[in-house]
Order: sequence, then structure tokens, then C-alpha cells
Amino acid sequence: MKKILDCIAEEMRAAFAACGYAADYGKVTLSNRPDLCEYQCNGAMAAAKAYKKKPIEIAGEVTACLKQREARQDADCPPMFSDLQAVMPGFINLRLSEAYLAYYLEQMRREEKLGAEDIGRGTTVIVDYGGANVAKPLHVGHLRPAIIGECIKRMGNFLGYHMIGDVHLGDWGLQMGLIIEELRDRKPDLPYFDESFAGEYPGEAPFTIGELEEIYPAASARSKTDEAFKDRAHEATRRLQEGYPPFVAIWKHIMALSLPDLKKNYDNLEVYFDLWKGESDSKPYIAELIEDLQQRGLAYTSEGALVVDIAEPSDPKELPPCIIRKSDGAALYATSDLGTILERERLYAPSEYIYITDKRQELHFIQVFRVAKKAGYVKPETKLVHLMFGTMNGKDGKPFKTRDGGVMRLEYLVQEINDKVYERIMENRTMDEEEARKASRIIGLAALKYGDLSNQVSKDYVFDIDRFTSFEGNTGPYILYTIVRIKSILARYAELQSGKGGPAAEKQEQIRPAGSAEEKALMRKLSAFNDVVETAFLENAPHRLCQFIYELSDAFGSFYNTTMILKEEDAKKQAGYIALITLVKRVLETCIGLLGFSAPERM
Ligand code: ARG
Repeated sequence: MKKILDCIAEEMRAAFAACGYAADYGKVTLSNRPDLCEYQCNGAMAAAKAYKKKPIEIAGEVTACLKQREARQDADCPPMFSDLQAVMPGFINLRLSEAYLAYYLEQMRREEKLGAEDIGRGTTVIVDYGGANVAKPLHVGHLRPAIIGECIKRMGNFLGYHMIGDVHLGDWGLQMGLIIEELRDRKPDLPYFDESFAGEYPGEAPFTIGELEEIYPAASARSKTDEAFKDRAHEATRRLQEGYPPFVAIWKHIMALSLPDLKKNYDNLEVYFDLWKGESDSKPYIAELIEDLQQRGLAYTSEGALVVDIAEPSDPKELPPCIIRKSDGAALYATSDLGTILERERLYAPSEYIYITDKRQELHFIQVFRVAKKAGYVKPETKLVHLMFGTMNGKDGKPFKTRDGGVMRLEYLVQEINDKVYERIMENRTMDEEEARKASRIIGLAALKYGDLSNQVSKDYVFDIDRFTSFEGNTGPYILYTIVRIKSILARYAELQSGKGGPAAEKQEQIRPAGSAEEKALMRKLSAFNDVVETAFLENAPHRLCQFIYELSDAFGSFYNTTMILKEEDAKKQAGYIALITLVKRVLETCIGLLGFSAPERM
């Protein structure tokens, strides 16, 4: 379905053309003077120069022509404007007619996707988000990529893209070597450490998930003071990457224990990946990658390491080359990302890649992207996007920590939010404990995700649990509260109808021209839906979707406060209100679904 601004612009273009001017002058925008008009066209000012006329003259001609066209419009589609004016020095000011707005929303209401178009048409996009590191617990640093990536993926799918979300686990790094060597010291008798062992390795892991959670931090701490231990861990990591069977066997145990735990954590966040791949999946491509880069003279040896130059003359400061292989032969983060690109090209041939990580990885992705393009591993037109997010800070303005200064585990953070919401619900005592617990999980997730997504991705933000869980203001719970309120009006309406002997009124449910300024404002907000979702996706800007539903909820609030919906005696009029608020509910529910959360029945 066409966007409402495009519908208006189309009329405007036709009018410019009919008056003998280039149609391109017929651009229309939202008014920047809402007190004077709703939409405006400034084309006459630009046309004035080209046609050597006074802008107001052109604006006058075009306005007159628009009025004529309106008079001739077909019966199906009501006249578009209620007010059309040429004003000094040459603006065209517009107001949409109530009838046209109702007509537009009535069409939108009949569409499953509420007027959004399949602009993606099956284009494949890889979203690389999550990025959890196996054997290390998920902490708040993994929250932002999960929340942002899930939203981007959902918006893309909604717009007809073929979005493939990959968790891309860190499953191949130094943490594995650390665990292996720590294990060797704790349990030297295990067959994995017996070089002469020739039998089959046990199917059971030699540790539990609980032990594993303790082994890694212990080993990591030890490596900071014990150089020899650290060197062993590096060596073990290298051997694992080489495919040394006993270490691969340990690695498999670690994976088997960690994955279900990670999955559970992501499930709790309602974050669902299509692919559970990781850095280790790049392994089969590494030898080929290195050979190819060497053979084609793109990679060369420098101080024992294999590197590819990526600097470009236009760089404001000189960028270091991308290291493909260290002097000790170990593969690096960039190597695995390049290997992964080879795999993704072979398996999915995406038109676009979106990587979501924090700002600190900026240089890494510049290097990887440049090597991929330079070597032709992706097509020249393939879009490689690194979506960098800012830091989540505590109220003190420093990166978010636990009370004792440690890194906060994600589970605890989620629990803290849910408890806070539970407290708030119980203050009002509108439901029993069990329902309140259930609702607080749903509302807590909304508080958490909305609190994050309502900020521009690249910006740092303050994680403020009191504000995020508030039922008022620009928060997730406020949006949910609006939905819940509409649900209860609709339920009450259905009850009243069945008392009157059936759903006769439903047949009259149709969006009607607005009868008040508040109703029109609500309708105008609704009409922007398809435009907003598209922009939010194309600009990787979930905050635009948040801003939209916040304004929509406010517009609904004003409408609700000034309109007697359930007491309305004119049945047709009432059915019109019902159609309208049902549409508000659908739009809000669709948007929160795209943001990655849902609404409870009551709150
Ligand atoms: N595991 C990485 C980290 O914790 C993030 C992975 C991001 N994705 C990628 N393809 N490099 O920093």
C-alpha cells in the first residue's frame, strides 16, 4: 500500500505537471508549522527560479489546479484535502480531509501487514548478532547485540527480506585453551592428556556445567599472573585449532554443555537465531583462504606474521594491515571472520551482511570488510554493514556493573527487572500472585528491550531500572498499558453487544471520518505506520519505531480522554470508534512484535 505522503505527493506532482512545470517540484513533507497546516509543499519556491516567475504565482496556479482535480475525483475515493492554500512567499499548505484519512485507514485495516510493503522481495540478509562466548556466562555486554539484532531481523522479515540470524558464537578462542590447561592441572589422569592413549574418548564430559562455570574464571584469573600457564593456554588453543583429536574431544564436551545453557538464556530474552554457528565453523575455509591470499599476492609476511594491506589514500589516519596469521601460526579473529564470509557466500550468497557489536570492534570490521572486497570474496555491490552500539552505563555514567563492581550476569539483570515490575503490580494488587509473576516476566522484558531500543543504537545510554519499569512516560510498560486498556474496552464492547443480541454491529465496523481534533490526530499518526517501519529498518534505527508507538499511545490517550466510546448511543459511530481502536491495537501489537516483546492480558 502506498505511503500516505506518497499519495499526497502524487497529487501534487500531477498538479505541477498539469500547470506546465516539472512534476519533481511536487515534493510533500510533514508540516514544520503544525499550527498552520498538516503537510506542506515548497516546490513553487524552487520552480520560481527555473521558470522565472514569482513563487506565489506558481503556488497559486498549482493550488487552483489541485482544487479542480479534487472536484473531478471518482466516487470511490473521497477528496483528499480539506484545506489547500498558497501562502506567501510561495508555500502550499495542506490539510488532509477527514473522509480521505478514514478511507486510507479503512484500506490499511483490511491489509494483513497494515499497508507495509514487501520491499525486500526475498533479498537475503545475514544478521550476525549475539556473539556470546562459549564457556563464559552471558553478561550484560551481550544484551545489546541480542536485543538490537533480533529487532532488525524481525523488521526485515516483516518487510519481505529473507533475514538469516546467526548467533556466531565465540567458540574457538583462548578461553578454550585456558580451560584445557586448567583441566590438565586439576585432572592430569584424564585420557585427553595421555599422549599414548589410543582408545576412544569418553562420551561423558569430565566436568559439569557448574564446574565449567568455575573453571573458566579461575583459569582466566591465573593467566593474568602466571606467564607459563598463559603460554600453555595459547599453545593448547593453537593445537585445538589445528585439530588435535584429544583437545577437539574436550572442546566438544564444552560445546555440548554450554549450548543448551546459552539457548535457555537467549530464549528467556525471546531472541531466536536461525543459525547456531560459530567461529569454529570457519575452520574448513582457513587453509584455502590463506593460500588464496598468498598466491594472489594480497598477503605478505611482515615480522613473521601474514598480513594484508587495507589502507586507502582517503583514510584520515593510517590504518594498520589486517593480520591473517600470527607468527606462531595461530589464526586470528579476522581470519575466522574472513573464513566465515567464504562459507556464507557459498551457502547463502547474501546481498547484505549486518554485524552488530560494540564500537570497540570498529577497526576489526573495517579490516575484514576491506580484505573481503579487495580479494573479491563478496560481490562489489554486496553491502557490508557494521552496526556499532554504544555502552550501557549505570546511573553513575560508567559502564554497567554489579553493586560490588563485577560484570553483571544477564540472568541476574533480567531477574532484577522482573522483581521490580512485580513490586509495582503488587502495589496496585489487581491480580493474584501467580498471574502477577507471569505478567511481570512479560512486562519486564518489554521494560528491558524498550529501554534499550528507544535509544539511538550508536549512543551510550543509562540503564535506569526505575525509569524503565515505570508505567508512565516513554517506557515499554506504558506502551503495554495502552494495549491492555484497548483490550479491556474491546472486551467490554463485545459483552455489551452480546447483550444486545449478537454481533450485528460488527458489520458496521468501519473507520469513519474523524469527529474531533483528537480523533484526527490519532488517525494521522496511524497512517504513518508503513512509512515508519520502512525507515526504521532501512536506517537500522529501532528507536524510530519506539518513538512512533510512544506518540501513537499518547494520541490514543488524548482520544480516549475526550471520547465516550462505550457510552456512545449512535451505534454506527460507536462501531467506527471500535474499528479505529482495534486498528490502534493491531498497529501497536505489530510494532512491539517487531521490537521483540509482547503484551499481557492485564496489568
Ligand atoms: N564473540 C565476539 C565478542 O564477544 C562477537 C562476535 C561478533 N561477530 C563476528 N562475526 N565477529 O566480542
